[in-house]
Amino acid sequence: MIEKTRTLVVIPTYNERENLPLIVARVLRSVPGVDILVVDDNSPDGTGALASALASGHERVHALHREGKEGLGAAYRAGFDWGLEQGFDRLVEMDADGSHRPEELHRLLEALDDSDVVLGSRWTPGGAVENWPLRRIVLSRGGSLYARVALGLPVRDVTGGYRAFRADALRAIDYHAVESQGYCFQIDMLWHAYTAGLRIAEVPITFVERVHGVSKMSSGIVREAIGRVTLWGLRGLPTRMFGARNFAPVVAVPLQSLEAANV
Ligand code: GDD
Ligand code: MN
Repeated sequence: MIEKTRTLVVIPTYNERENLPLIVARVLRSVPGVDILVVDDNSPDGTGALASALASGHERVHALHREGKEGLGAAYRAGFDWGLEQGFDRLVEMDADGSHRPEELHRLLEALDDSDVVLGSRWTPGGAVENWPLRRIVLSRGGSLYARVALGLPVRDVTGGYRAFRADALRAIDYHAVESQGYCFQIDMLWHAYTAGLRIAEVPITFVERVHGVSKMSSGIVREAIGRVTLWGLRGLPTRMFGARNFAPVVAVPLQSLEAANV
């Protein structure tokens, strides 16, 4: 008998009370059979209690409570630990605010059949953003461009937070060595995956700006990302100039091929 593939969607939350019930319902509706883990950092608005209430009402919904706000990276590391321990085969990163549409999750999971890590990408053909202010578009595109050049990382959307990993890929990445705190965690994970030689694919997504609540993006988060990327870039410079780099190419999956496979 073939064992069923088990998928866990990890959703980090900090003050997402209005969004959480909506996103949980959408995930369960659009990809039946997946489990959800909410990782809450003791949100002052009571998101944690809400997560527990949702978890007690649905056997596929789980809640992990952390003591305080330690950033996206720490929340994901704790969520991955939990998921791997529970034996999930595929782990997904998703924001709580609806920006990562659960209705597109099937695309990421399909692409994971032929790769180890799948990135939901706003900046590959077919990808888009809706209702994002210009300064966020500039920051995101600029950040991706900077990381691409500084690290020699052939990825269009370097900072995105909608991703799917095979469990084996996460183990190979050794994500506890990924020490970034804020959203730089996303670049850090990708850099580890790439240098570990994993097969990475980018799948177009439409990122929709949140309606409820506020972004937790801050200048400290941006500073961490610029500082770390610059440091990694400089560290890797000798190898890039004189050594052989033999990493697998990053695949851009065209939207049509995924939609065609889905009919
Ligand atoms: N547990 C926990 N702890 N969750 C957090 C924390 C934290 O310290 N900080 C943020 N989150 C959660 C939010 O509650 C939300 O569910 C998700 O992480 C993303 O946070 P947002 O504040 O909505 O991010 P954004 O919309 O500004 O940024 C998006 O773009 C970034 C840059 O491309 C996200 O997709 C990021 O993942 C991405 O890096
Ligand atoms: Mn958001």
